[in-house]
Amino acid sequence: MNVQPSRPAVIVALDVEERSRALGLVEACGSAIRIFKIGSRLFTSEGPGIVGEIKSLGASVFLDLKFHDIPATVEGSVRAATGMGVSMMTIHTSGGVEMMRAAAGAASSESKRLGIPRPLVVGVTVLTSLSAEDLARTFGTTGAVKDLVMRLAAQAREAGLDGIVASVEEARSVKEALGSGFKVVTPGIRPAGAGVGDQKRTATPRAAREAGSDFLVVGRPIIEADSPRDAAERILRELMEE
Ligand code: C5P
Repeated sequence: MNVQPSRPAVIVALDVEERSRALGLVEACGSAIRIFKIGSRLFTSEGPGIVGEIKSLGASVFLDLKFHDIPATVEGSVRAATGMGVSMMTIHTSGGVEMMRAAAGAASSESKRLGIPRPLVVGVTVLTSLSAEDLARTFGTTGAVKDLVMRLAAQAREAGLDGIVASVEEARSVKEALGSGFKVVTPGIRPAGAGVGDQKRTATPRAAREAGSDFLVVGRPIIEADSPRDAAERILRELMEE
Protein backbone atom coordinates (compact mmCIF):
# COMPACT_ATOMS: atom_id res chain seq x y z
CA MET A 1 0.00 0.00 0.00
CA ASN A 2 1.25 3.47 -0.83
CA VAL A 3 2.28 5.61 2.14
CA GLN A 4 1.88 9.34 1.61
CA PRO A 5 3.93 11.21 4.21
CA SER A 6 2.09 14.36 5.27
CA ARG A 7 2.79 16.86 8.01
CA PRO A 8 1.87 15.47 11.44
CA ALA A 9 0.32 17.51 14.26
CA VAL A 10 2.29 18.03 17.47
CA ILE A 11 0.60 17.16 20.77
CA VAL A 12 2.19 18.40 24.00
CA ALA A 13 2.03 15.94 26.93
CA LEU A 14 1.10 17.87 30.08
CA ASP A 15 3.02 15.50 32.36
CA VAL A 16 2.69 17.69 35.45
CA GLU A 17 0.54 17.43 38.56
CA GLU A 18 -0.61 20.96 39.26
CA ARG A 19 -3.42 22.68 37.44
CA SER A 20 -1.56 26.03 37.45
CA ARG A 21 1.49 24.50 35.79
CA ALA A 22 -0.64 22.72 33.17
CA LEU A 23 -2.59 25.87 32.30
CA GLY A 24 0.63 27.90 32.28
CA LEU A 25 2.11 25.51 29.70
CA VAL A 26 -0.98 25.76 27.49
CA GLU A 27 -0.72 29.55 27.61
CA ALA A 28 3.05 29.52 27.07
CA CYS A 29 2.73 27.41 23.91
CA GLY A 30 0.18 29.90 22.57
CA SER A 31 -1.02 29.35 19.04
CA ALA A 32 1.94 27.07 18.20
CA ILE A 33 0.22 24.01 19.76
CA ARG A 34 -3.49 23.21 19.49
CA ILE A 35 -3.71 19.77 21.20
CA PHE A 36 -2.61 18.89 24.75
CA LYS A 37 -2.44 15.45 26.29
CA ILE A 38 -3.81 14.87 29.79
CA GLY A 39 -2.53 11.63 31.28
CA SER A 40 -3.51 9.76 34.43
CA ARG A 41 -1.10 11.81 36.55
CA LEU A 42 -2.70 15.22 35.92
CA PHE A 43 -6.23 13.79 35.70
CA THR A 44 -5.91 11.98 39.03
CA SER A 45 -4.43 15.02 40.77
CA GLU A 46 -6.82 17.63 39.43
CA GLY A 47 -9.97 15.77 38.39
CA PRO A 48 -12.08 16.10 35.24
CA GLY A 49 -12.46 19.88 35.59
CA ILE A 50 -8.99 20.29 34.09
CA VAL A 51 -10.35 19.13 30.71
CA GLY A 52 -12.84 22.01 30.54
CA GLU A 53 -10.24 24.51 31.75
CA ILE A 54 -7.83 23.60 28.97
CA LYS A 55 -10.62 23.68 26.40
CA SER A 56 -11.68 27.11 27.62
CA LEU A 57 -8.22 28.35 26.60
CA GLY A 58 -9.12 27.37 23.03
CA ALA A 59 -7.11 24.13 22.91
CA SER A 60 -8.16 20.53 22.17
CA VAL A 61 -7.65 17.71 24.67
CA PHE A 62 -6.23 14.22 24.10
CA LEU A 63 -7.35 12.22 27.16
CA ASP A 64 -4.74 9.50 27.65
CA LEU A 65 -6.23 7.34 30.41
CA LYS A 66 -5.65 4.02 28.57
CA PHE A 67 -8.96 2.38 29.51
CA HIS A 68 -8.70 -1.40 29.98
CA ASP A 69 -11.66 -3.24 31.51
CA ILE A 70 -14.70 -5.34 30.59
CA PRO A 71 -16.58 -4.02 27.52
CA ALA A 72 -19.50 -2.49 29.44
CA THR A 73 -17.19 -0.53 31.73
CA VAL A 74 -14.99 0.79 28.93
CA GLU A 75 -18.11 1.70 26.96
CA GLY A 76 -19.28 3.85 29.88
CA SER A 77 -15.86 5.47 30.32
CA VAL A 78 -15.63 6.33 26.62
CA ARG A 79 -19.16 7.75 26.74
CA ALA A 80 -18.18 9.96 29.69
CA ALA A 81 -14.96 11.14 27.99
CA THR A 82 -16.89 11.90 24.80
CA GLY A 83 -19.35 13.96 26.83
CA MET A 84 -16.43 15.99 28.21
CA GLY A 85 -15.67 17.08 24.65
CA VAL A 86 -12.20 15.59 24.31
CA SER A 87 -10.86 15.26 20.75
CA MET A 88 -8.93 12.02 21.24
CA MET A 89 -8.65 9.28 23.87
CA THR A 90 -6.81 6.01 24.42
CA ILE A 91 -7.88 2.48 25.32
CA HIS A 92 -5.77 -0.71 25.55
CA THR A 93 -6.07 -3.01 22.53
CA SER A 94 -5.27 -6.02 24.75
CA GLY A 95 -8.76 -5.63 26.28
CA GLY A 96 -9.99 -7.55 23.23
CA VAL A 97 -11.97 -6.92 20.04
CA GLU A 98 -15.32 -6.85 21.82
CA MET A 99 -14.07 -4.21 24.25
CA MET A 100 -12.66 -2.09 21.41
CA ARG A 101 -15.95 -2.39 19.47
CA ALA A 102 -17.87 -1.20 22.52
CA ALA A 103 -15.49 1.78 22.85
CA ALA A 104 -15.75 2.80 19.19
CA GLY A 105 -19.54 2.44 19.31
CA ALA A 106 -19.82 4.57 22.46
CA ALA A 107 -17.77 7.39 20.91
CA SER A 108 -20.02 7.38 17.83
CA SER A 109 -23.38 7.14 19.58
CA GLU A 110 -22.61 9.64 22.35
CA SER A 111 -21.14 12.28 20.03
CA LYS A 112 -24.15 11.88 17.74
CA ARG A 113 -26.55 12.19 20.67
CA LEU A 114 -24.82 15.37 21.83
CA GLY A 115 -24.36 16.80 18.34
CA ILE A 116 -20.60 17.20 18.80
CA PRO A 117 -17.64 15.97 16.68
CA ARG A 118 -16.79 12.30 17.27
CA PRO A 119 -13.50 11.98 19.20
CA LEU A 120 -10.77 9.72 17.84
CA VAL A 121 -10.38 6.50 19.84
CA VAL A 122 -6.85 5.15 19.55
CA GLY A 123 -5.47 1.89 20.90
CA VAL A 124 -2.33 1.32 22.93
CA THR A 125 -0.71 -1.85 21.62
CA VAL A 126 2.44 -2.92 23.51
CA LEU A 127 3.78 -0.36 25.97
CA THR A 128 7.21 0.82 24.89
CA SER A 129 8.47 0.01 28.39
CA LEU A 130 7.92 -3.75 27.76
CA SER A 131 10.52 -5.95 26.07
CA ALA A 132 10.03 -9.37 24.43
CA GLU A 133 11.37 -10.94 27.64
CA ASP A 134 8.82 -9.06 29.76
CA LEU A 135 5.99 -10.27 27.49
CA ALA A 136 7.22 -13.86 27.66
CA ARG A 137 7.36 -13.67 31.45
CA THR A 138 3.92 -12.08 31.85
CA PHE A 139 1.89 -13.78 29.10
CA GLY A 140 4.07 -16.68 27.95
CA THR A 141 4.21 -15.15 24.46
CA THR A 142 7.06 -15.97 22.11
CA GLY A 143 8.17 -13.99 19.09
CA ALA A 144 8.99 -10.41 18.26
CA VAL A 145 7.27 -7.44 19.90
CA LYS A 146 6.63 -5.97 16.47
CA ASP A 147 4.58 -9.01 15.41
CA LEU A 148 2.37 -8.54 18.45
CA VAL A 149 2.02 -4.81 17.72
CA MET A 150 0.93 -5.59 14.16
CA ARG A 151 -1.54 -8.22 15.33
CA LEU A 152 -3.12 -5.86 17.88
CA ALA A 153 -3.17 -2.99 15.37
CA ALA A 154 -5.06 -5.13 12.84
CA GLN A 155 -7.61 -6.08 15.51
CA ALA A 156 -7.97 -2.41 16.48
CA ARG A 157 -8.85 -1.49 12.93
CA GLU A 158 -11.23 -4.43 12.60
CA ALA A 159 -13.00 -3.27 15.78
CA GLY A 160 -13.48 0.26 14.41
CA LEU A 161 -10.78 2.18 16.29
CA ASP A 162 -9.32 5.20 14.54
CA GLY A 163 -5.67 4.31 15.03
CA ILE A 164 -3.02 3.17 17.47
CA VAL A 165 -0.15 4.47 19.56
CA ALA A 166 3.16 3.09 18.26
CA SER A 167 6.83 3.95 18.18
CA VAL A 168 8.30 5.44 15.01
CA GLU A 169 9.94 2.05 14.36
CA GLU A 170 6.49 0.47 13.91
CA ALA A 171 4.66 3.41 12.33
CA ARG A 172 5.66 2.69 8.76
CA SER A 173 4.70 -0.99 8.92
CA VAL A 174 1.33 -0.14 10.45
CA LYS A 175 0.62 2.38 7.69
CA GLU A 176 1.73 -0.03 4.98
CA ALA A 177 -0.37 -2.90 6.34
CA LEU A 178 -3.49 -1.03 7.43
CA GLY A 179 -3.68 2.00 5.16
CA SER A 180 -2.82 5.67 5.47
CA GLY A 181 -6.24 6.54 6.93
CA PHE A 182 -5.54 4.50 10.08
CA LYS A 183 -3.93 7.00 12.44
CA VAL A 184 -0.57 6.48 14.13
CA VAL A 185 0.29 8.45 17.26
CA THR A 186 3.98 8.37 18.15
CA PRO A 187 5.58 9.30 21.48
CA GLY A 188 9.33 9.24 22.18
CA ILE A 189 10.05 12.22 19.93
CA ARG A 190 13.41 13.91 20.46
CA PRO A 191 14.69 16.81 18.36
CA ALA A 192 18.40 16.50 17.53
CA GLY A 193 20.48 17.32 20.61
CA ALA A 194 17.63 16.88 23.14
CA GLY A 195 17.99 14.58 26.18
CA VAL A 196 16.52 11.09 25.76
CA GLY A 197 15.39 10.69 29.41
CA ASP A 198 13.86 7.26 30.14
CA GLN A 199 12.66 6.66 26.55
CA LYS A 200 14.28 3.67 24.85
CA ARG A 201 13.10 4.00 21.25
CA THR A 202 13.29 7.64 20.21
CA ALA A 203 13.14 9.38 16.85
CA THR A 204 13.46 12.92 15.53
CA PRO A 205 10.32 14.79 14.44
CA ARG A 206 11.43 14.48 10.85
CA ALA A 207 11.94 10.70 11.06
CA ALA A 208 8.44 10.40 12.56
CA ARG A 209 7.00 12.42 9.70
CA GLU A 210 8.80 10.27 7.16
CA ALA A 211 7.50 7.10 8.81
CA GLY A 212 3.95 8.40 8.29
CA SER A 213 3.01 9.37 11.88
CA ASP A 214 -0.12 11.50 12.11
CA PHE A 215 0.43 12.85 15.62
CA LEU A 216 3.70 13.36 17.50
CA VAL A 217 3.44 13.34 21.31
CA VAL A 218 6.16 15.49 22.86
CA GLY A 219 6.59 15.92 26.59
CA ARG A 220 9.87 16.87 28.22
CA PRO A 221 11.58 18.49 25.20
CA ILE A 222 8.83 21.15 25.32
CA ILE A 223 7.54 21.25 28.91
CA GLU A 224 11.01 21.38 30.45
CA ALA A 225 12.40 23.93 27.99
CA ASP A 226 13.21 27.46 29.15
CA SER A 227 10.80 28.64 26.50
CA PRO A 228 8.17 25.99 25.66
CA ARG A 229 6.97 28.12 22.77
CA ASP A 230 10.44 28.34 21.18
CA ALA A 231 10.93 24.58 21.66
CA ALA A 232 7.54 23.86 20.05
CA GLU A 233 8.27 26.20 17.15
CA ARG A 234 11.65 24.57 16.52
CA ILE A 235 9.90 21.20 16.19
CA LEU A 236 7.23 22.66 13.90
CA ARG A 237 9.96 24.21 11.73
CA GLU A 238 11.72 20.87 11.47
CA LEU A 239 8.44 19.31 10.31
CA MET A 240 8.00 21.98 7.62
CA GLU A 241 11.44 21.44 6.09
CA GLU A 242 11.47 19.55 2.81
O1 C5P B 1 8.57 13.45 27.90
P1 C5P B 1 8.31 12.56 26.73
O2 C5P B 1 8.37 13.28 25.40
O3 C5P B 1 9.11 11.29 26.77
O4 C5P B 1 6.76 12.15 26.93
C1 C5P B 1 6.12 11.19 26.12
C2 C5P B 1 4.68 11.05 26.53
O5 C5P B 1 4.11 9.99 25.77
C3 C5P B 1 4.45 10.71 27.99
O6 C5P B 1 3.22 11.33 28.39
C4 C5P B 1 4.29 9.22 27.98
O7 C5P B 1 3.46 8.76 29.03
C5 C5P B 1 3.60 8.99 26.64
N1 C5P B 1 3.75 7.64 26.09
C6 C5P B 1 5.00 7.07 25.83
N2 C5P B 1 5.07 5.80 25.31
C7 C5P B 1 3.95 5.11 25.04
C8 C5P B 1 2.70 5.69 25.28
C9 C5P B 1 2.64 6.97 25.80
O8 C5P B 1 6.02 7.68 26.05
N3 C5P B 1 4.03 3.91 24.50
